[in-house]
Amino acid sequence: MSVQGRLDDPALLAVVATRVDAARRLLREIASDFSPAAFASSLGAEDMVLTHLIVRDRLDIEIFSLDTGRLPVETYDLIARLQRHYDLRLRLYYPRHDLIEAWTREHGINAFYESVELRKGCCHIRKVEPLQRALAGCKAWITGMRAQQSSTRDGLPIRSFDAASGDRGLEKFNPLADWSEREVWAYIKLNQVPYNALHDKFYPSIGCAPCTRPVTPGEDVRAGRWWWENPESKECGLHARTA
Ligand code: ADX
Ligand code: SF4
Repeated sequence: MSVQGRLDDPALLAVVATRVDAARRLLREIASDFSPAAFASSLGAEDMVLTHLIVRDRLDIEIFSLDTGRLPVETYDLIARLQRHYDLRLRLYYPRHDLIEAWTREHGINAFYESVELRKGCCHIRKVEPLQRALAGCKAWITGMRAQQSSTRDGLPIRSFDAASGDRGLEKFNPLADWSEREVWAYIKLNQVPYNALHDKFYPSIGCAPCTRPVTPGEDVRAGRWWWENPESKECGLHARTA
């Protein structure tokens, strides 16, 4: 596991309990006041916390994932495990095959390593375009982002208006914005929440297989994502406009 928190630390348990109360209240409010609302799950540790909270309170919030076609095998294993554990069938959205075929024909199968522009082009086709379809008709969407994940997420609000998504913009909620990585893992351990096996192999942040690698101790949690790029370019376009 990426962060070993001591579960007998009363201060940690108290903070987690407070954060969980606030997150549950917010999720209930979203389900009642912003229906239809959808939760975008990348199947990372934070998303597993939110999945657990949504399922445990039987909230009317759809949970979906963007299957880019390049995810690690461990992520597909987790999708199958969630189905067994929670009887949850994630809604999966796929890229448009015509766009992928044209892009790979023109640029090559792994052209995202060649420039930030090509990398963002691949993320656009495989993630951003499917996200727009997933959010069509929604009044709100929810993410598992945290402010401490990277410099691009400093000051991340719990709630904001995302003018670029949905039909005419929609509310965006980051219920774990102020959680620390240690608190996320404390919740996972306390509640025996299923998580991606890659987290136990020094992958704190997991995206597509060719664009994610393990980190070394002390490195930033997102250092293994698009590791060949500068930290300031490391967003895939799902959040660039509101981060
Ligand atoms: S990102 O740059 O890939 O977006 P990160 O992996 O830190 O960053 O994910 C942040 C949040 O974006 C996740 O908690 C989730 O809400 C959303 N997200 C990222 N990738 C996906 C995906 N493949 N499917 C659904 N949601 C995703
Ligand atoms: Fe393409 Fe890599 Fe972005 Fe995945 S993370 S969509 S493989 S550039």
